Parts: sequence; C-alpha cells; structure tokens
Amino acid sequence: MKINYDITDIKLAEAGKKKIEWAERDMPVLASINKEVLKNKPLKGIKIAACLHVTAETANLMRVFKSAGAEVLLVASNPLSTQDEVAAALVKYYQISVFARHGENRDIYYRHLKAALNAHPHITLDDGADLVSLLHHDYKEQAGEIIASLEETTTGVIRLRALDKSGKLLLPVVAVNDAKTKHMFDNRYGTGQSTLDGIIRATNMLIAGKTVVAAGYGWCGRGFANRARGLGAKVIVTEVDEIKALEAAMDGFEVMPMKEAAKAADLICTLTGDLHVIDKEHFKLMKDGAMVCNSGHFDVEINLEALKKMSTQVRSVRPHVDEYLVQGKKIYVLAEGRLVNLAAAEGHPASVMDMSFATQALSALAAVKKGRLNPGVYEVSEAIENKIAHIKLKSMGMSIDKLTAEQENYLNSWEAGT
Ligand code: ADE
Repeated sequence: MKINYDITDIKLAEAGKKKIEWAERDMPVLASINKEVLKNKPLKGIKIAACLHVTAETANLMRVFKSAGAEVLLVASNPLSTQDEVAAALVKYYQISVFARHGENRDIYYRHLKAALNAHPHITLDDGADLVSLLHHDYKEQAGEIIASLEETTTGVIRLRALDKSGKLLLPVVAVNDAKTKHMFDNRYGTGQSTLDGIIRATNMLIAGKTVVAAGYGWCGRGFANRARGLGAKVIVTEVDEIKALEAAMDGFEVMPMKEAAKAADLICTLTGDLHVIDKEHFKLMKDGAMVCNSGHFDVEINLEALKKMSTQVRSVRPHVDEYLVQGKKIYVLAEGRLVNLAAAEGHPASVMDMSFATQALSALAAVKKGRLNPGVYEVSEAIENKIAHIKLKSMGMSIDKLTAEQENYLNSWEAGT
C-alpha cells in the first residue's frame, strides 16, 4: 500500500508526534506487544484498514500493526474526534495512510470509508461498524478477502449481531468490545472520566451540588454515574432494564423515568446506544439553563431535530455549547449531541486505551494465525484476556496470589460438603 492521505495540514505533524509519544508512556501493554512483533513481523503481507477515532492512542495501535509488518490505513470513525495533528504525524513520521479531517462532512466521511475499502484490506477494525456496514452495501464482493473484522464498541457489536441474526453477515467478526479487558475498563473508567472531562472543558461548570442524570446504566452509564457522584453531584439514573435499574438503586442512585428526571436535572448525559432518549416531551419539562449531552456512539440519543423545531433561537455561546431558546427557557446542548468526551476533550486516557487496543492487536494477530473462519460473531479468547491482564498488572507494579495445589484440587472436586 503506497502512502495516501487526505488530512487537514501536514505541517501539524511535529505537534502530533509529541502527542503520540506522550500517550505511548502510558501504554505498556501495547509496548510489550510491539516488542514481540518487531522480531518476526507476523503481519507481513497483511493490509489493515482501521476506522477508529483518530487520536494519539489509536496512533500507537497503528504503530504496533506497522511494527508487525502490516500495511496500515486509518480513517476517522467520527467527524469530530479527529486530532488533525495526530493524522499529520502518522503520515509524516510513521508512513501510515490516513484519511481524516476534523469536522469533515458526511460526504467526505463516506469518501474516506470508501478509500479504506478500495485498498482491499485483509483485516478491518471498526468503531461503530460503519466500515463493515458499507462493505455489506457496496463492496459485498470483497467480503471473502477479509480474514476478520474487529469491532471496538458496544453499538457496533449490537449492529453486527443484528446483521448475523438476519443471516446476512458475510465475514467473521471479533467482538473486541465484549472482552472483559475492554468493556470493564474502557467503557466504565474511560467513559466515566472522559465524559466528565468533556463536560467540564466545554462548560467549566462545577459538578458538586448539581443534579446530574445518567441515562443508561450499562458499563458506560455505571462509570459516568460513579464519577459524577465522586465529584459531588446528586446522581439520578434512568433505565429501561429492570435488573440494571435495581443495580443502580442498590449502588445508591435515585432511579426514575426520564419524564421525572428531566424536571430535576441540571445536566443530562445519554449513554444508552439508543434513539431519542431525550425527546420533545422531555425538553418541555426541563428547567431553565438545563444542559444535555451524549456519550453514546451515535448522535441519535438527543432528538435535536425536535429541539430545533421547538426553539425560537439557536446560537453558539462558546466552543461546544449551543443555546436553544424554548418557550422562554434556555437549554444548552454540548458538542452538537455527538460523543462529548471525544468532541470536547481527548477521549479516554491512554492507560485505559492500552488495554482496549492490546485486545485489538492480539485479536488481529490471532485472526491472521488462525486464518479465515466462517461468517459469525466471535469472542476474544480467554488466553488473550489473561495475557493482557498479566502484563497490565505487572506494569502497575502489582502481583497476585496463586492457588495452592490443595486449593486447586478443592475447586475441581465435588465430594467436599458440609
Ligand atoms: N474511544 C474513546 N476514547 C478513545 C481514544 N482516546 N482513542 C481512540 N478511541 C477512543
């Protein structure tokens, strides 16, 4: 693959390189995989096309693939998350093809996705399944060329399972998101912290004493609710799943329907992966000055079309903050309803992306070693998860106990009782 690119400004490369190196300090698991693959180049002859957020952390994953001998192409998985300086550095210093411009429109976004598939990759990575979805629409004939497609996020895995269930999935997919080394850390601690980081950078608001609503109590919602509580907010959780609602209640949060929560909220953050979680009826109930934002993958959770129709005036009041005037009330929308953690801040910190991207790297290596499987959605192996946990713990200076032979025997037997 010759180096091709469509980026904002190659002159930003120096700043991007510094950013990538700063993130690298906090990515010891990826560094250890990098060291392993440098010797044998297990991905020699393999073309990888990744559709991920173009951040410093992603850059370090791309570097590992390059070290492993792969040809690498990266496109943006979201128009607002691209760090232009990182895109420039990947092209200039690391010989990686990049198609990503911060703020790109829908046409350019899809032109970039097409560039990824036009390169005829053997392995694809997705954050939200847009690349695989495009392949199933316009590039079906290439499905057989793909050894495996790796999916980073909950929303993407849901889409791919739906495709599989419909009997139309044409390639093997690895549900990287579902690995414990991904969702238990990235979705919980990464989303928890980076979402509040985005909200605070966008607004400079004090969280202490505010009523904050977490819409959704999956791994992302749990992380967000806990971190908001840690900053002193009174936190309300809304849910549609009774078990998750119970868990939230027993974790000490107030639980109620959105129609009640909307009245009390100073800030609502959606983290559900579903459509119109904040809708017309909820905007009507909100207090003057209430803020809404989203940390779910797509910008569909807040019904902005309805809000626009209800508003007599919309204006930008500071970067990432739009003010909507509704029946004499002001409602503030952060980051245009897109992922607030990536649009208004830098996404998850490197030390948590280290585990997610180590899961990606080892899954790609395993897929190439195994060869193409039948179409279907596959789990990450326990061996990969254990390896990542082992290296991460070691990098944190921690070790743990081992079962004694007697304990192991006890766990493997059924005879012992009261
Ligand atoms: N998703 C959430 N945070 C991210 C980051 N820092 N880099 C890439 N993808 C992300």
